[in-house]
Amino acid sequence: MKDTFYGEGRVLLEGAISNIQAKLDIVQKYNIAHFGSNPINYVISRVKSEESMKEKLARKGFEVTKENALTKVYDAAGIRIICSYINDVYTVVDMLKKCKDLKVINEKDYIKHPKENGYRSYHIIFELSLDIAGKIYPVYVEIQIRTIAMDFWSALEHEIKYKKNIKNPEMIAKELKNCADQIATTDLYMQTIRNMINEEN
Ligand code: GTP
Ligand code: MG
Repeated sequence: MKDTFYGEGRVLLEGAISNIQAKLDIVQKYNIAHFGSNPINYVISRVKSEESMKEKLARKGFEVTKENALTKVYDAAGIRIICSYINDVYTVVDMLKKCKDLKVINEKDYIKHPKENGYRSYHIIFELSLDIAGKIYPVYVEIQIRTIAMDFWSALEHEIKYKKNIKNPEMIAKELKNCADQIATTDLYMQTIRNMINEEN
C-alpha cells in the first residue's frame, strides 16, 4: 500500500534528503578535484516507513499525527554516510557543520564514546532550512556517519534485534562486542598506515 501518512510532509522529507545529497555530491567532487581524494565512500538515505513512524510515535507517547512525525521525532528523514577511514568521518562532520542552512539540534559521538554493545557511529540531527520557492521550511534530518567496518558490524547487530528464538543471546552479544573492539582497533590501524603512506608523498 502507498504511504499516505506524511501527506504533503513527504515533499519536505524527500526535499531535505535530496538537498543534503546534493551538498555531499558537490563536496565529493570538490575534494577529488582539489585534494585527489574523497572522504565519502557512499551515501544511503530513506524516509522512515509509515509503519515504523507510527510505531515510534506511539512508543514515545506522542499522538500519532503527521505533525508529530515531522516535529517530535527527528528521524523521519535519514541519511547514512559511509567512509573508509575514521578521520574521514570527522572531515564529513566538520564539513556538514559549516553549511549555512544546517543547524545542529543534537549530536552523539558513539565513536569516541561507544555504546555498551560496541556500537560505533557519529550521529547528528540537523535542522535544514529548506527553501521552496522563497519560503523557508525547517526540516529535521538524522545523519549517521561511520566507517565501512562499523557499518558491516551494525548491520549484523541490527539483525539479531529482530531475530526471535536465538539460542544463546548472551554469547552472541559477547562475541559481537569482541568484534566491535577488534574493528575499532583495525580502523585505527588502517588510519595509521594511510597516514604513513600519505606522509611519504
Ligand atoms: P531513537 O533510537 O531513534 O528513538 O533515538 P535515540 O535517542 O536512541 O538515538 P540514537 O542516536 O541512539 O539512535 C538513532 C539510530 O541509530 C537508531 O534508530 C539506529 O538506526 C541507530 N543505532 C543506535 N544504536 C544502535 C545500536 O546499538 N545498534 C545498531 N545496529 N544501530 C543503532
Ligand atoms: Mg535508539
